Amino acid sequence: MWQLLPPAALLLLVSAGMQAADLPKSVVLLDPPYDRVLTFDNVILKCQGKDPFGNSSTEWLHNGKPISAKSSSYFFTVDSVNDGGEYRCRDDFSSFSDPVHLTVRTGSLLLQSLQWVFQVGEPIQLRCHTWKNKTVTRLSYLRNGVVKKFSHNYFDFYIPEAKQEHNGSYFCRGIVAGNNVSSETVHIFVQEGRHYSNGTGEAIPSTRTDFISWQITIFLVVGFLFAVDTGLYFFVWRDLRSSVEIRRDINVRAKTLMTYDP
Ligand SMILES: *[C@@H]1O[C@H](CO)[C@@H](O)[C@H](O)[C@H]1NC(C)=O
Ligand SMILES: *[C@@H]1O[C@H](CO)[C@@H](O)[C@H](O)[C@H]1NC(C)=O
Ligand SMILES: *[C@@H]1O[C@H](CO)[C@@H](O)[C@H](O)[C@H]1NC(C)=O
Repeated sequence: MWQLLPPAALLLLVSAGMQAADLPKSVVLLDPPYDRVLTFDNVILKCQGKDPFGNSSTEWLHNGKPISAKSSSYFFTVDSVNDGGEYRCRDDFSSFSDPVHLTVRTGSLLLQSLQWVFQVGEPIQLRCHTWKNKTVTRLSYLRNGVVKKFSHNYFDFYIPEAKQEHNGSYFCRGIVAGNNVSSETVHIFVQEGRHYSNGTGEAIPSTRTDFISWQITIFLVVGFLFAVDTGLYFFVWRDLRSSVEIRRDINVRAKTLMTYDP
């Protein structure tokens, strides 16, 4: 029986090591879903952890430093540019999420989009967000300094299918509280859609690589089990054969003894 112990112990070690290294990551979601905000905006950061009961406490990091928030939704009103930067979270059942980067601006107008890199053919939607949600009139969206769309009232700039020509620098301009104001310029990248896209401009979704690493791990574990199994088979088979030979030997000797017995 002791021969079984080393492989079993090894297997336990392997699975324990796997659990520590492969703890899934939490995910931080922004609500509203824009990564550029103005002062006085309300922001909710939501931590999607892996707790099956949903009652474990959440740890938050802002620019690498722990913050006092402990619940899975972190609500705050943007006070200054110091609220910008990287946010990460985790619960008791996961490792820290990839960072979410929040940019805080102080102007009257801010261009917002769900993403800044698009593949050819994807829709582009730009918002011209105003400070404290004030009313904006005579609104224009400009690309490379040229007005592309104008309206007396608020509208989102919508391009149903991105083309190469939509690659460029954008800003919005309008009248807020009697002043002619402009947003900062932001670059929108339009790429040829040759590689995988998950719609956020990320080339390969991390869930896909997670999946591949899981497949490799399973493959290795199955291979390991097969090797252990085969080893055990030959080991037991050799033992059995030698014990059969010993028994045969005893039988032969017994017969020989019986034959020679008077
Ligand atoms: C969460 O809930 C589970 C199941 O109801 C319970 O066993 C566990 O102790 C709870 N954990 C905390 C941190 O409250
Ligand atoms: C898009 O604009 C950027 C910055 O001006 C430039 O580097 C890039 O080559 C442009 N891409 C295409 C496909 O035109
Ligand atoms: C705002 O100022 C720019 C020049 O800086 C001008 O071209 C534009 O027409 C003005 N917009 C409005 C709505 O008056």
